Amino acid sequence: MHRPRAAAAAQTLRSRFGEPPMAAVIAGSGLGALADALEGRTACSYKDIRGFPEMGVAGHLGQTAVGALQGRRVLILGGRSHYYQGVDDEEVLVLVRAAALWGCRILVVTNAAGGVNPEYRPGDLMLIADHLNLLFRSPLRGPNNDAWGRRFPDLCHAYDPDLRRRMREAARLEGIALREGVYAANLGPSFETPAEGRLLRLLGADAVGMSTVPEVLAARHMGLRVVALSYISNSLVHKPEGVATHQEVLDNSRRVVEPLTRLLRRFVAGLNGTTNGHE
Ligand code: HPA
Repeated sequence: MHRPRAAAAAQTLRSRFGEPPMAAVIAGSGLGALADALEGRTACSYKDIRGFPEMGVAGHLGQTAVGALQGRRVLILGGRSHYYQGVDDEEVLVLVRAAALWGCRILVVTNAAGGVNPEYRPGDLMLIADHLNLLFRSPLRGPNNDAWGRRFPDLCHAYDPDLRRRMREAARLEGIALREGVYAANLGPSFETPAEGRLLRLLGADAVGMSTVPEVLAARHMGLRVVALSYISNSLVHKPEGVATHQEVLDNSRRVVEPLTRLLRRFVAGLNGTTNGHE
């Protein structure tokens, strides 16, 4: 059998950064600046990690950084691959799988998303309570790697209730308003039509994006505990004329980096040995 890419990448992470941190954070579009908050940071380009994806989307830095937030070491993955780039499952999932094989136990996913809940406004932060997989396929299809996880992973608690509670508490302590809702994954790369925005609302979505769901499936397959945050970069309800642009997504990301950093710092500070991810 060929050696999975993720195993090679995990090996490189181990040799570059040593012991695994408890948590890995995927920084979504425009959120790579999260890594600037790390104390005692060591960083390297995705190019220097065997098996990591090549970054081709503006706003995705392609940089891995390890350092401390409030004294707790974390891995920040600045940039991800998306299916709309035409890449395969392994390319989309390698970051999560490498972090898991290295030994991280908690995955914090961040993304930019369009609001379909009429109460949401650009700049809002949303804790993901659940998702709708509108990619209509699972990245886990095909032969199962039993060493990584079981064939039929349960998704009832895909977004860990205890970690969500901790995130809500961190937001309260920081005075940050935090929405909580359902994230729908759309393949992209086009933004949704106004009719699709209305349909997503009828289906029970609060926000829609082009990432996260495959990563969460891979993480749950490997037994990682997951918590995920969307930043609402645009609204499909209040500005449904199809004028959402990637530039708008990146511009709006600047104002959420500060509250998001504070939120993550407070959240990570509360993690301890009992939240090490073993279920
Ligand atoms: N739709 C899909 N993905 C997105 C959007 C959107 O409106 N905004 C940011 N990512």
